[in-house]
Amino acid sequence: MKKVQLTETVLRDANQSLMATRLPYADYEGILADMDKAGYYSVECWGGATFDSCLRYLGEDPWERLRGLRKNLPNTRLQMLLRGQNLLGYKHYHDDVVEKFIELSIKNGIDVIRIFDALNDFRNIATALECTKKYANERTVASGCISYTQSPVHTVEKYIEMCKELKTMGFDTICLKDMAGTMSPYEAEHLIKGIKDAIGDMTLILHTHCTTGMAYMTITKAIESGIDVIDTATSCFSGGTSQPATETMYYALKQYGIETGLDEDVINKVNDYFKPIKQKYIDNGQLNPKSLATDAQALVYKVPGGMLSNMIANLTDMHAMDKFDAALAEIPKVRADLGYPPLVTPLSQMVGNQAVTNVLVGERYKNISKEIKNYIKGEYGIAPAPINQELLDKVLEGAQPVDCRIEDQKRTGEEFIAAKEALGDLARSEEDVMSYICYPDQTMKFLNDRKAKEENEAVYTIEEM
Ligand code: CO
Repeated sequence: MKKVQLTETVLRDANQSLMATRLPYADYEGILADMDKAGYYSVECWGGATFDSCLRYLGEDPWERLRGLRKNLPNTRLQMLLRGQNLLGYKHYHDDVVEKFIELSIKNGIDVIRIFDALNDFRNIATALECTKKYANERTVASGCISYTQSPVHTVEKYIEMCKELKTMGFDTICLKDMAGTMSPYEAEHLIKGIKDAIGDMTLILHTHCTTGMAYMTITKAIESGIDVIDTATSCFSGGTSQPATETMYYALKQYGIETGLDEDVINKVNDYFKPIKQKYIDNGQLNPKSLATDAQALVYKVPGGMLSNMIANLTDMHAMDKFDAALAEIPKVRADLGYPPLVTPLSQMVGNQAVTNVLVGERYKNISKEIKNYIKGEYGIAPAPINQELLDKVLEGAQPVDCRIEDQKRTGEEFIAAKEALGDLARSEEDVMSYICYPDQTMKFLNDRKAKEENEAVYTIEEM
């Protein structure tokens, strides 16, 4: 019997897409033992924005959360999302920091590391792959992930080439990540058939979002075309900017005669558990019902929804909403000049802001943001297509583009030592130091709060005695 497996995203991407990753561990600890029996391919539960949100908003130690997940989901693959050399942020870290982060992630319980680079510059994911292999145990899966976008240079042939490269690099599985939810059923069919022909029996995964309304149709075509794993969210946390629904796909696949390995009672129980949690966050305003709607604008303007709302907010602030149409028309031009980068964070914001600036100043590239200059210099990696020569000359001023890998190749331990020194006795583990390297301000505050809380508790204990 044909088999398609499901990755449950409620703890990470659905949580991030619908409610800005504000779901505390305590809210879902009670359902983990059941989730462990559901039969998912994996549970995506860590990485992405969860780490930042734990420290910044929830007063939680992300590593402790991971250990809790590991303890309560002993039979399930725990999955994280990792932005290659940027780990969970936007800066390029040194190789030894990437190595330590991966070592600790696996040690604390991660099984599947899904690794991507916003530009699909695979030099930026090579170290993360190498380290995953180095610290792998029998459950570890290194998943190579492609940021999916549409442009004249992003052809089916180009994606097939990328997949062949990921296979050659040594990844165990490949994931197509359609972060804006713009992949159409037609594109899915051609892509997946082509890729499956090229990579043989290697596991292929589709990650998409319901944002534009395409997802269910796209996934259906993907299944017919040979996809092995799809990402879904328990139904009350599905739809809108999140993933398609787990139970819906279970029933549809069952009628197809395709095995999922899922336990029907358990996946329904999981959804029942999350219903009141969802309601709680709708009531307190944390979950905006707007994020549950379908927004097809991304298909019309070829711009992700989040980027549009960001642009509208900026123009409104500057009392320049009359320039909205002109700014919108400017985006494809800027994107083409920059060599068609995928419009994913942080590039979506950078391209949007540059388009607005061009229109407001009334002259193209009279002002160029620092981030765009760094991108043009090569600091983020190589653009998918050549950058406009005039723009390149203007920014480089005769200098050579930089190699994004030079800085990273240092293996001196200096970032780790400096972080350890900065924390002093606040740090009690390598995990604390790693949190600080990723998010210095938030971690400093979190560790100070932890210390103060413990001192308070110590005082209470003495008084009570
Ligand atoms: Co996603």
